[in-house]
Amino acid sequence: MVFFNFPFWRLCLLSLPLASSLTVPQQPLTAASEENISEVTQDLAKDDSAFNITDYTSPDEWNPTKFDYDVVIVGGGPGGLAASMSLARVARTSLLYDSQEYRNEQTRYMHDVLGQDGQVPLKFRTAVRQQIDELYPDYSFWATRKTKVMGIIPLEKGFRVYDDRGGTVTAKRIILATGVKDVLPNKPGFAESFGRGVFWCPWCDGHDYKNRKMVVYGKLASAIGSALNIRKLTTDITIVTGGPISKEDKDEAEARWPGWETVIKKTFNIPIRENDITKVERTTTNMEPKDDEYKVHLNGGTPNPLITNGMLISVPTTQTSSLHKQLRLEMDGKSVKVKKNMESSVGGVYVVGDANNDSSTNAYHAMWSAKRACVDAHVSMSKQEYLDAVPEAMAAAAGGDKEFYRLQLEELELQIGSDVEQMYQALGG
Ligand SMILES: Cc1cc2nc3c(=O)[nH]c(=O)nc-3n(C[C@H](O)[C@H](O)[C@H](O)COP(=O)(O)OP(=O)(O)OC[C@H]3O[C@@H](n4cnc5c(N)ncnc54)[C@H](O)[C@@H]3O)c2cc1C
Ligand SMILES: *[C@@H]1O[C@H](CO)[C@@H](O)[C@H](O)[C@H]1NC(C)=O
Ligand SMILES: *[C@@H]1O[C@H](CO)[C@@H](O)[C@H](O)[C@H]1NC(C)=O
Ligand SMILES: *[C@@H]1O[C@H](CO)[C@@H](O)[C@H](O)[C@H]1NC(C)=O
Repeated sequence: MVFFNFPFWRLCLLSLPLASSLTVPQQPLTAASEENISEVTQDLAKDDSAFNITDYTSPDEWNPTKFDYDVVIVGGGPGGLAASMSLARVARTSLLYDSQEYRNEQTRYMHDVLGQDGQVPLKFRTAVRQQIDELYPDYSFWATRKTKVMGIIPLEKGFRVYDDRGGTVTAKRIILATGVKDVLPNKPGFAESFGRGVFWCPWCDGHDYKNRKMVVYGKLASAIGSALNIRKLTTDITIVTGGPISKEDKDEAEARWPGWETVIKKTFNIPIRENDITKVERTTTNMEPKDDEYKVHLNGGTPNPLITNGMLISVPTTQTSSLHKQLRLEMDGKSVKVKKNMESSVGGVYVVGDANNDSSTNAYHAMWSAKRACVDAHVSMSKQEYLDAVPEAMAAAAGGDKEFYRLQLEELELQIGSDVEQMYQALGG
């Protein structure tokens, strides 16, 4: 675990839109429920320029002797919430920031999560927060609703976090559960229908369109793959390729799906429309998935528009937050590189959920990866506490300095989280 305190980070501050007040740790959230978010959000000044830049020069700012929290969690989706509970279970304090930009914001129901299948995401988050509040009020804290983290500066032994309300706190570890956003086609109707009949994940929403009409929109080779993934749910599928199929598209399809033309068109009876979509139009005001019906307007061909109940699309994603840039975390394409323990290229900064490079984006992964990060963070903090407690004289006798103990601990670090198992095995279990 190495923390940096380069002057570079001070320079970074000059680009941070922040107020100067050093606030105490914020109050835990008591009763406010997510249903009332809209009133709260109206209060938030959206204009970053309203915040002033401050150069922090007090030495305490950079080398605090005591940290406000063990961990700062950025993100209030399933990843961040799981981290909050997990840390509390081992009496680690955390402060969770949530700017309320959830990837599944528009989703009506979440699926394929045990005990929560068909749950409204908002209700899920509210229930989780209430449970954490009730059970762990001494350890889990929430930053004021809709507070965004604007900057994170590594200190000698931890981090200083700045938010968009002018607050700043310190923590020993950071967990970023900041998620990704789907970059939708910039055409009328896509933004409104996303998560409401237009979707990318067969497991999440596919079952709602069982035996109903589906459009698959994408480049030929990937559209064929997607069509195959939903063919058990419905055989009433139309592929829309976004335009004429080029020789290149054809070659790619042939390489991945030899004989695709015969199988897809004739055997599976899936028409392929070589047109692009100009507009997606919802033809009902009822909002339940069973009511979903769309007119998909094409730039040519017949029939036009296509009538469908759902549409499977594949879109690129982008990081929801820019903290990875500010912290200069190593990237793997659009995702933040993490090791097996979910730690990024900056020691002490963990990245969990959709934002990391596990190539898996679902609620389970968000919760599981948060859990893993929490185990690692807790164990590494415990070890650091041990190290800090080794008397100088004892360290000197053993190996000259604390470096001796540090090496011993590094060895153990490799087996993080399995300490209890080892204990059991050592006893002959
Ligand atoms: C249409 C749709 C349907 C889906 N359906 C399902 C489903 O049925 N089942 C399933 O398992 N998965 C589903 N998913 C995927 C699921 O939504 C994601 O995998 C999950 O939300 C990832 O959780 P997360 O905690 O990583 O990120 P998110 O849930 O996206 O949360 C990110 C959090 O970080 C916060 N944040 C970001 N930057 C900052 C900052 N600077 N300061 C403070 N806070 C910040 C955001 O406000 C938010 O709270 C669906 C996704 C979509 C798009
Ligand atoms: C949320 O709003 C509803 C309706 O306005 C109100 O009845 C309820 O008391 C509010 N809840 C909280 C926690 O403020
Ligand atoms: C920012 O600074 C300007 C000029 O110093 C001042 O007028 C303004 O009130 C400050 N804004 C905030 C939010 O502190
Ligand atoms: C994520 O990045 C790490 C570190 O570079 C790498 O070891 C790992 O294989 C990557 N994960 C995936 C799924 O590619």
